[in-house]
Amino acid sequence: MDDTTIALVTGANKGIGLEVARLLGRAGATVLIGARDPGRGAAAAGTLRDEGLTVHELQLDVTDPASVAAAARRVEEDHGRLDVLVNNAGILVGWARPADLSVDDVRLAFETNVFGVVAVTNAMLPLLRRSRAGRIVNVSSSMGSLTRLAAPDSGIPMMAYSASKAALNGLTVAYAADLREAGITVNSADPGYCATDLNGHTGPRTPAQGATVVVRLALLGDDASSGGFHDDDGPVPW
Ligand SMILES: NC(=O)c1ccc[n+]([C@@H]2O[C@H](COP(=O)([O-])OP(=O)(O)OC[C@H]3O[C@@H](n4cnc5c(N)ncnc54)[C@H](OP(=O)(O)O)[C@@H]3O)[C@@H](O)[C@H]2O)c1
Repeated sequence: MDDTTIALVTGANKGIGLEVARLLGRAGATVLIGARDPGRGAAAAGTLRDEGLTVHELQLDVTDPASVAAAARRVEEDHGRLDVLVNNAGILVGWARPADLSVDDVRLAFETNVFGVVAVTNAMLPLLRRSRAGRIVNVSSSMGSLTRLAAPDSGIPMMAYSASKAALNGLTVAYAADLREAGITVNSADPGYCATDLNGHTGPRTPAQGATVVVRLALLGDDASSGGFHDDDGPVPW
């Protein structure tokens, strides 16, 4: 098996995902730029290739089963395995108070932020099992920390998004337990509040700053811990 790390980042055409792809590429990985829109994926891959990085665009809509299956087939054909999966693709929907939120808004958030992660992870797991040390990072949020949301001064949560990220953390714990024997680590990362399209560029952090904890968890060494939730400063309460 050749030593090059093969990494797939979902939603890598912009924002934090693009920066994760850039940092993984700089670390020497071959990075597959998951993007639901082929044009946006090709543009992002072109930018990173111009920087001298080894990247390939990969059409991947995490909510489309046919797209997920085709992406897994493509990774199998082109690389035969996967070493790193970063489940980064995510959406922020449902700004209304919980009592005014529609079921459709909640469902929409879960389709991408939770069910999409299950679909992509399960499709890629046979390839991750062929890695010497598979690494999965789920890009979560402090808004998925039930401990923080339940604090008296935390205000009213954005329910659809917060609940979807809390559920994502539930996936992290479950997959981590299931894959421990296989030597595949699964961790949640909180990138912090970063200026991206997701929030109208209101965050004080840059996407590159948000990407660092994600990449750290994606490149954990042999003594890697699994089943955790981390930001740049350390563990985040569930
Ligand atoms: N920004 C923050 O402050 C912050 C804080 C905590 C956590 N996060 C998390 O960080 C992750 C990245 O967010 P971001 O801030 O970088 O947002 P962003 O700039 O809006 O990027 C989101 C990415 O996800 C992609 N995406 C959305 N739905 C998809 C789908 N069905 N299939 C494939 N890709 C899809 C988008 O693709 P298109 O370009 O095609 O829309 C885009 O590439 C998300 O999981 C978000 O919840 C962000």
